[in-house]
Amino acid sequence: MKVLKYMPLVLSLVLLALLTACVQPVAEPKIVAPPKVEAAPAPEPAPVVKAPANPYEAKLVPLTVSQCGQCHTSYFNAIKEKGGRHQFDCQDCHQQFHAYNPNRNNWAQIMPQCSSCHTLPHGPKQTECLACHSNPHTPLNLVLSDRLTKNCADCHASPAAQVKEFPSKHTLVECSSCHHTNHGYIPSCFECHQGHYKDEPVDTCQTCHPVHKPLQIVFKGDVELKNCSGCHSAVFAVWAGSMSKHAKVSCVSCHTQHGLIPSCSNCHGDAPHNASLHAKFPNCLTCHLDPHDPPVKTR
Ligand code: HEC
Ligand code: HEC
Ligand code: HEC
Ligand code: HEC
Ligand code: HEC
Ligand code: HEC
Ligand code: HEC
Ligand code: HEC
Ligand code: HEC
Ligand code: HEC
Ligand code: HEC
Ligand code: HEC
Repeated sequence: MKVLKYMPLVLSLVLLALLTACVQPVAEPKIVAPPKVEAAPAPEPAPVVKAPANPYEAKLVPLTVSQCGQCHTSYFNAIKEKGGRHQFDCQDCHQQFHAYNPNRNNWAQIMPQCSSCHTLPHGPKQTECLACHSNPHTPLNLVLSDRLTKNCADCHASPAAQVKEFPSKHTLVECSSCHHTNHGYIPSCFECHQGHYKDEPVDTCQTCHPVHKPLQIVFKGDVELKNCSGCHSAVFAVWAGSMSKHAKVSCVSCHTQHGLIPSCSNCHGDAPHNASLHAKFPNCLTCHLDPHDPPVKTR
């Protein structure tokens, strides 16, 4: 009887023990996963087994990359994660290592030279490679050093020329104020501006404003006319409410560039009426009054 009474307790204890036994081994390795050691392809364990009587008869094998990595973990990981096309054997670069001697002051001499594999990819002016590629183990991870920010134009002639040739307030903004944080970063206009109307999508901006010459405004055919209304609300209202067929003609079909006033003859030819009428009244708007709302018969 007593046994039966305690049966549920015993059972749940057993269950608990089983559960913890099941759960622990699964959870633990996740937390204490040791740094990648087991991932290394196990190198030949053979030499240890048949150690010769004279230890100097052992055949020396060059250290592998993962062996270098066992001591130089941070360098190994840097190349592994961000080495890009430098993901090759350490010793392709480090032909000498563990040879530094402060008394000889020989650091520069034993360190790999870029020039042993590269020529001058950016032309004759950019010779101090490490001034920009500060870490050869992560060659494309470029921080915006002074050396880099003062040389944008040297490699990017076209944006630099545009900014100069078409003066705007962006001419006074440093390249690196927009392209900040990392080399190659592209900013959003909304980091510094708002749209012309509420909820304007950011990808409309550059359809009108080429960013390096923002005042060279170009109107493309599919331009969002809400932009015009943001600044020309009166004209927009007149046009949108017009009974005339011009209300179906887009603002930018007539104003193909910002501020450009079109000639009626672009679309209606030189003389839609008879020649004597045009000779007498050369300005069409004498009779048609307002291009945004020419009076029409409504019948
Ligand atoms: C593409 C060539 C290249 C490869 C590949 C390379 N290194 Fe280097 N490494 C260099 C250069 C160049 C320097 C010198 C940097 C300097 O003087 O600032 C250097 C410096 C070092 C230093 C000394 C850094 C210091 O400031 O104390 C260590 C340690 C090192 N590398 C380890 C490694 C290891 C380990 C590997 C392989 C996992 C490796 N390197 C792969 C080019 C390379
Ligand atoms: C047993 C550990 C160990 C191994 C394996 C090892 N190193 Fe080192 N290495 C060191 C130590 C310790 C230093 C000196 C302290 C420091 O700079 O971190 C050093 C320094 C260096 C330096 C800078 C100073 C110099 O004299 O060259 C380079 C470069 C270097 N190692 C490259 C390598 C490369 C490449 C490999 C693989 C072929 C490798 N090391 C394997 C421990 C090791
Ligand atoms: C042992 C030869 C070797 C040395 C030394 C070397 N590189 Fe390279 N580097 C290469 C190779 C190979 C590539 C890949 C080139 C390719 O695919 O066209 C490369 C690519 C690069 C890249 C482009 C990386 C990418 O992922 O696209 C940069 C940047 C670079 N190297 C800079 C340097 C700098 C700076 C130094 C000196 C600190 C240096 N390299 C030293 C061999 C070397
Ligand atoms: C003024 C800064 C600067 C200097 C100095 C510099 N680089 Fe670069 N390098 C760059 C930048 C920026 C890139 C482009 C990185 C990118 O693609 O994101 C680059 C790209 C590269 C590439 C990859 C090019 C490609 O088309 O794949 C190589 C290789 C390279 N540099 C090697 C060198 C070597 C070698 C030196 C020294 C002779 C050097 N760089 C000096 C800034 C510099
Ligand atoms: C040493 C030459 C060099 C210097 C200096 C340099 N760049 Fe570059 N830059 C490059 C190269 C090479 C690329 C890669 C080109 C490509 O992918 O077409 C690049 C790419 C870029 C890109 C990305 C282009 C894209 O289409 O995504 C931007 C933005 C850029 N650079 C801005 C700058 C700015 C701003 C500066 C100055 C702070 C600068 N760069 C300095 C060589 C350089
Ligand atoms: C007001 C902010 C701003 C300034 C200032 C600026 N840029 Fe840009 N830049 C951008 C934006 C945004 C883009 C992305 C353009 C796109 O999507 O077509 C860009 C694109 C680029 C590109 C890649 C596309 C291309 O046109 O080749 C390069 C390279 C570049 N800029 C270099 C520069 C340089 C060099 C300077 C300084 C002379 C500079 N930028 C000044 C915002 C700016
Ligand atoms: C890092 C900040 C920054 C970014 C990013 C930026 N701008 Fe500007 N922009 C400015 C500053 C500063 C001015 C001058 C002050 C002002 O008018 O607000 C300016 C002015 C302008 C002007 C008026 C130019 C003039 O001369 O009157 C236009 C148009 C413009 N920006 C469009 C854009 C567009 C489009 C983008 C995105 C492609 C953009 N900007 C991204 C900082 C920025
Ligand atoms: C339909 C074309 C068009 C689009 C799309 C457009 N703009 Fe404009 N923007 C203009 C015109 C036109 C001006 C007036 C220029 C002048 O004063 O002569 C202007 C002026 C500006 C100015 C300077 C005057 C001011 O209001 O501060 C900034 C900044 C600006 N735009 C930013 C933007 C941004 C950011 C976007 C995207 C959200 C954008 N624009 C989208 C046409 C456009
Ligand atoms: C950011 C505000 C802004 C936006 C957006 C804008 N404009 Fe303008 N627009 C102006 C300013 C400012 C002027 C100059 C007004 C002046 O000189 O009296 C102007 C002038 C004009 C002129 C010439 C007026 C004259 O008297 O010669 C026309 C035409 C014009 N805009 C059409 C448009 C059209 C079409 C759009 C839309 C595709 C548009 N604008 C978008 C601000 C803007
Ligand atoms: C970008 C082309 C374009 C320009 C520029 C243009 N128009 Fe029109 N216009 C049209 C179109 C399209 C219609 C409609 C034709 C149709 O459906 O038969 C039209 C119709 C008209 C009509 C008849 C309106 C109606 O509702 O019956 C008049 C009047 C007119 N235009 C006058 C002018 C005058 C005056 C000018 C110059 C101030 C002018 N247009 C400039 C494209 C243009
Ligand atoms: C059928 C061609 C046509 C269309 C469509 C058109 N415009 Fe115009 N717009 C003109 C002409 C022609 C003038 C010059 C009127 C004058 O000389 O009095 C003008 C003048 C203007 C002016 C300056 C004069 C003023 O009245 O303030 C602005 C701003 C303007 N248009 C904006 C717009 C906007 C915004 C739209 C679209 C909502 C638009 N236009 C549609 C032909 C057109
Ligand atoms: C002396 C006044 C006057 C002048 C100047 C004038 N028009 Fe008209 N136009 C009219 C009248 C009135 C009508 C309406 C005719 C009708 O509905 O039968 C008209 C009709 C039109 C129509 C519509 C035709 C149709 O079939 O629906 C167009 C387009 C037009 N004019 C264009 C122009 C252009 C372009 C100019 C300048 C080159 C111009 N007009 C000059 C008085 C004039």
